[in-house]
Amino acid sequence: MKVSVKKGNLADYDCEAVIAGHFEDEKKLTGDAEVLDKRCGGLLSRLLKDGDFEGKLFQTSVLYTDTFIKSKRIVFIGMGKRKDFDLETLRGVFSKAAQKVRDLHLKNFAASLDFGTLDLKEDNMAESAVEGVLLGLYRFTPYKTKAADKTPEVREFTLIAENPKAAKTSKAAAKRAETISAAVYLARDLVSAPANEMTPTIIANRARKMAETRPIDIKVFDERQMKRLGMNALLGVARGSAEPAKFIIMNYAGGRKAEKPIIFVGKGITFDSGGISIKPSANMDEMKSDMAGGAAVIGAMQALADLTIPLNVVGIVPATENLPGGKAYKPGDILKSLSGTTIEVKNTDAEGRLILADALSYAGRYKPEAIIDLATLTGACIIALGDHLIGMLGTDDTLKGMVKEAADMTGDYVWELPLWQDYDEMLKSDVADVQNVGGRAAGTITAGLFLEKFVGDYPWVHLDIAGPALLAKEKPYIPKGASGVGVRLLVQFLRNRAGKADA
Ligand code: BES
Ligand code: ZN
Ligand code: ZN
Repeated sequence: MKVSVKKGNLADYDCEAVIAGHFEDEKKLTGDAEVLDKRCGGLLSRLLKDGDFEGKLFQTSVLYTDTFIKSKRIVFIGMGKRKDFDLETLRGVFSKAAQKVRDLHLKNFAASLDFGTLDLKEDNMAESAVEGVLLGLYRFTPYKTKAADKTPEVREFTLIAENPKAAKTSKAAAKRAETISAAVYLARDLVSAPANEMTPTIIANRARKMAETRPIDIKVFDERQMKRLGMNALLGVARGSAEPAKFIIMNYAGGRKAEKPIIFVGKGITFDSGGISIKPSANMDEMKSDMAGGAAVIGAMQALADLTIPLNVVGIVPATENLPGGKAYKPGDILKSLSGTTIEVKNTDAEGRLILADALSYAGRYKPEAIIDLATLTGACIIALGDHLIGMLGTDDTLKGMVKEAADMTGDYVWELPLWQDYDEMLKSDVADVQNVGGRAAGTITAGLFLEKFVGDYPWVHLDIAGPALLAKEKPYIPKGASGVGVRLLVQFLRNRAGKADA
């Protein structure tokens, strides 16, 4: 879809629909809604007066403007209470408006950011508005072959700015939103793809294709190289599958040479059957999303390169299937990880922590500034936090604080769980240094404690995205299915870290 920013008046803009917003806790229309209303002979205020429209969040009504203005329609949308209105609500409002425009089969629409006085910066509003439109209109359709299954795509969205200065800042903000949304689309596409078409080899090739046209160096280790290095925890998981495992390393050197890199690690299980400790068949299809952490890392690498963020960043994605083949690893097996620590496999379904163990040890070779890993790691995290929150655990308060700040700015919300050391004894093995499960209680915490053993002495945050990675029900600007969670969080984290929010 084409996104443009133009200077002018919304009421004079020629398109198929314009957006007007209203707050439910106000009697009077404000901003461009008031202007549109005046120009259209009180079309909107009549609705308010008659009680047909209150402005409740995401309430929508379509009005026909006759010949009053050039746009044939006004999509009137409720924005909730003015005092509750923030950038996250703005994303939702623009998404819902765009979805309405698509439902009407319209090709283009326009909006302004004049909703009366708000305590929000114009460029932040522009970025969130464009993000809302693009993220809300995402669909995964490559396997839909019948035209009847597809409503036509909206082709163009125009943001109307009042003056040249606002137009200029909004233009740059809209561009950033397009870049970031494209990265979220990439992550969502990778997760949405069925596991037969998103094998470790394919995800590695997709990462290569992404890096090819950008200043990103990519290396993909095959199983022989992993064997030589000693990544036996990862290789152990891979044994049950006929698809060869891949270890993807993406290197972006946007910072000064001497600067230590920030490392992102993403779990890349392209299908998790549970292995010999096989999962129940109900909803097992959802385990195609067990590479959502890896997808978020690949998406974030794309965005940070496109935004030319001045930092050194390495993205690592260990990728394999977890299947119960004839050569599969078994409960009771002992694996010698890259770090030398031996792991007793008590449950082959706790495979994510095994591949992450080797990836986190490998990350230590960069002597990094910080490590952040993302993984659909535990069902326990869904039980604890549901699908609105990422579980956050980590060793460094400053780093956790920065992740939390980025989370609050983007709506990829995190909630901290403790790395409670008393639970460490649950991971004690009779025969090896450690075992890969700690029992049902505190499952997300014991998973975090397991990972901690492989991190080394670097500031580290672990993000358990099992809940928000794949949605059973849509959210305001995230359609049902793959959410792309983590991409915007990681990018915002880097933008904040680089010290310029407009990077
Ligand atoms: N990929 C799953 C976690 C998961 C479950 C993600 C549901 C998204 C939705 C992970 O590999 C797993 O199976 N974890 C086990 C760990 C247990 C064996 C200690 C779990 O959560 O049951
Ligand atoms: Zn598993
Ligand atoms: Zn898994």
